[in-house]
Amino acid sequence: MSRTKLLLGNWKMNKGPKEAASFMAQAEEMLALANEKGIEIGVAPTFLCLEEVARLAPGGFLVSSQNVNEHDHGAYTGEVSCPMLKEVGVKAAIIGHSERREYNGETSKACNLKIKALLQAAMTPVYCCGESLKTYEEGETVAFVEKQILEGFEGVSAEDAKKVIVAYEPIWAIGTGKSASTDDAENTIRAIRGVLAGLYGEAADEIRILYGGSVKPGNIKAYLGCPDIDGALVGGASLEPSSFIELIKESV
Ligand code: PGA
Repeated sequence: MSRTKLLLGNWKMNKGPKEAASFMAQAEEMLALANEKGIEIGVAPTFLCLEEVARLAPGGFLVSSQNVNEHDHGAYTGEVSCPMLKEVGVKAAIIGHSERREYNGETSKACNLKIKALLQAAMTPVYCCGESLKTYEEGETVAFVEKQILEGFEGVSAEDAKKVIVAYEPIWAIGTGKSASTDDAENTIRAIRGVLAGLYGEAADEIRILYGGSVKPGNIKAYLGCPDIDGALVGGASLEPSSFIELIKESV
């Protein structure tokens, strides 16, 4: 089963509309390089920039939000829904990033509702999971991540599960410059695929699982060379167009 590798830039709370538009001025060049490499690329800007970024994105360049609300509309102050994102050309949403779990109290159960809402809207959930340094040091990584996967996919059919992208991001590796070893990343991602195989059988082979956490041009090739790692979710190194281009060039 061949899974197209994906390189997704998570801009977090960086770049206003002007900076976002200036990055997108190089999107054609980025996409041409990605096509040469046979990988998929995209970015996840703030809500404020999504419409502009989606307008400037060439066909095939994935535009994702960093969150979504599970309701279509209504009295949910400060929230944005799937139909609203779709209306401006957004095709995916990052769900359950560790920063949202930590600062916004997002649980895997809450993520489950958002994943279902996205699937219902024919959008792609990018579901994040990953353990803290303490959990890693206690050797509980797989048990911890397994629970996040089981809760996130609760009630999701095999057909729908294939449309979900999982991102494994050890919290201790995010923004720290301390990336997980390729062995650790591959082993945990293989374990995640095992959990998904327990739920969905062969369909699990079609689910893309990304690694995230201090991915840089200098280490991306090693991650993407691992058989179970289907791409990368990249924060810091996705912000500068030149660095994003390097990531694409070094990806495979
Ligand atoms: P980082 O962030 O690449 O800056 O470590 C990754 C992420 O949080 O998605």
